[in-house]
Amino acid sequence: MTHPTPAPHGSPAHSQPHGHGSHELGHDATDSHGHGTHAREDHGTHAHEHAHEQDGLAELLDLDAELFAPYLAASMRSIAEVAGDDVKRIVDLGAGSGTGTFALLKQFSSAQVTAVDSSAHMLEQLTRTAAAKNLDSRVHPLEADAGTSLPGVTDADLVWASASMHHMDDPTATLGIIFKALRPGGLLAIAELDGMPRFLADDAVPERPGLEGRCREALTTLHDEEVPHMGADWGALLAQAGFTLEEERAESLELRPQPGGSAGLYAHGTLTRIRGALVGRVDPADLEALDTLVNGGPADVRHRDDLVVHSTRQLWIARRPTDSGS
Ligand SMILES: C[S@@+](CC[C@H](N)C(=O)[O-])C[C@H]1O[C@@H](n2cnc3c(N)ncnc32)[C@H](O)[C@@H]1O
Repeated sequence: MTHPTPAPHGSPAHSQPHGHGSHELGHDATDSHGHGTHAREDHGTHAHEHAHEQDGLAELLDLDAELFAPYLAASMRSIAEVAGDDVKRIVDLGAGSGTGTFALLKQFSSAQVTAVDSSAHMLEQLTRTAAAKNLDSRVHPLEADAGTSLPGVTDADLVWASASMHHMDDPTATLGIIFKALRPGGLLAIAELDGMPRFLADDAVPERPGLEGRCREALTTLHDEEVPHMGADWGALLAQAGFTLEEERAESLELRPQPGGSAGLYAHGTLTRIRGALVGRVDPADLEALDTLVNGGPADVRHRDDLVVHSTRQLWIARRPTDSGS
């Protein structure tokens, strides 16, 4: 596998491919109108807003990885059990801020990772973090739309795609691209989650019981419209694309954090980011109630003691058959 140098940032050849919103997990970016914001960055203001939004997303991705670190590490161990130790060439597809990249480098100590993302801004952050961790010689950023091609990437031992496959316009075509980028016998691991995590009990906001459930329901409708492949049956799609499924599992995770820590920040970032997407989709009284959870007042999620983070995560590990040519 080669590791091409990323194209110059802001290159018009690398306009953002998709228009998906952020509503999921708080993992993706939503603009203030609740629409996706992957439009061309040819206006200064828009570019500035987009960068700001990507910073917020990167921060959330880092918090997610911190809170669910044991789960991420267990996923890495599961992959290593299937892959064996001889994993040298890895692709992190839709790498974001690099949480997967760094977990992969830790698990596979002699591997190099090509971190692919369509966002130059994310790759800049990832590159900075890699340097701060003294891992820059093992990380190769590649700005590319993985739904179109993985330029220069061949003979990979492992492709890791966390919370990124559902962004692809045509998942079957993307699975074909990944299949070709792997060596025969190489693995693809897809990690996905079931949408926005939950943080509060139904009666947490007494004047609006069931608030979070209604927000979640509205987001699900939005996902169905904007990110239709979220919640796809990746096992079936992998089989159709010629992969052999080695492992598939779903886990419901529950964290009971101490008040005042990362979970509060994570809940705050998530709820703040979904608010724009919910305008016109939930009762204005629900939006007002949501504001009380993030506005620094007594009900703010950053300092309440009743947060419980629930999230369901799925993992598929599949192999390109060894007899599938070269
Ligand atoms: C929800 S984030 C997940 C990031 C990271 N994998 C993680 O789990 O923390 C999805 C990432 O996929 C990237 N992405 C979306 N569509 C893409 C595409 N077509 N090609 C490459 N990257 C893409 C986004 O820019 C974003 O950084």
